[in-house]
Amino acid sequence: MSLILVESVEKKYEDKVVLNKINLEINQGEIFGLLGPSGAGKTTMIRLLTGQISATAGKITVFDKEVGKLNGTEKKQFGIMMDQFGLYERLSCYDNLKLFADIYGIKKEQIIQTLRAVGLEKAVKTPAMNLSKGMRHRLQLARVFMTNPKILFLDEPTSGLDPATSEEIHRLLLHKKEMGYLIFLTTHNMGEAEKLCDHIALLNEGKIVEYGQPQEICRKYNHQKKIRIRLKNGEELEYENSRDSAAKIEQLFQEQSIETIHSTEPNLETVFMERTGRRFE
Ligand SMILES: Nc1ncnc2c1ncn2[C@@H]1O[C@H](COP(=O)(O)OP(=O)(O)OP(=O)(O)O)[C@@H](O)[C@H]1O
Ligand SMILES: [Mg+2]
Repeated sequence: MSLILVESVEKKYEDKVVLNKINLEINQGEIFGLLGPSGAGKTTMIRLLTGQISATAGKITVFDKEVGKLNGTEKKQFGIMMDQFGLYERLSCYDNLKLFADIYGIKKEQIIQTLRAVGLEKAVKTPAMNLSKGMRHRLQLARVFMTNPKILFLDEPTSGLDPATSEEIHRLLLHKKEMGYLIFLTTHNMGEAEKLCDHIALLNEGKIVEYGQPQEICRKYNHQKKIRIRLKNGEELEYENSRDSAAKIEQLFQEQSIETIHSTEPNLETVFMERTGRRFE
């Protein structure tokens, strides 16, 4: 079932088109990744989808309703993690969550349970301002998880985190997906997208320039497959995957000068660098 439907959406700030004719359909139980270089329009898209700002043109439907017409109860089904939704710095982890628990009518026991789920059980009494970056992220995620939202909007949930903490967060997200939640995330990390996302869209200058399953997108670019050879004399060679190359490689075999040979498949990073002409930060 499609939970989010975006049809010909455009967002302009004065004359500047930030999002241009965006179409998306995202289903329940999927992790969707919006990728793209800085300034591409990813955060703007989340703000539109969550009704924080409205589109200049087009239509956004969430839970079968136009996003602007969702009522308070329906909006409580959103879990939003982004910079604008900050933490109360002087309050402890527990008290930060308690504020939300009160608003959402969540039992107190669940606060501790959620803190445990994100690995913050030892920081229950620590004020937010004394948390490390990874712990802050986890507290923000705890806040999102605690309310049991049907749709999670996560703006760069692992940016700036060490690999182990990112891995931990990935595990939590995959668990939520298994439980049937829809997760909409943005990321600059191609490896993360390949690992987590069922579908991804690559946004460049406000337009979607690629859409699909990560593996499917990489396969589309398979013509870029290269063959890398290291010679016994230490020289490194790279050949296109073509008939011409075959003859040259055959000759190297005959001369017995090859030390190693392997083919390189395009990964999302190479695909996206080609499509955006930019390196991901
Ligand atoms: N309120 C606003 N007024 C004017 N321009 C804006 C506003 N919000 C965003 N923009 C512009 O829209 C473009 C997209 O911004 P956005 O924050 O969505 O990018 P992003 O893809 O999230 O980038 P990053 O990866 O750096 O977070 C940028 O050029 C930005 O300057
Ligand atoms: Mg952003």
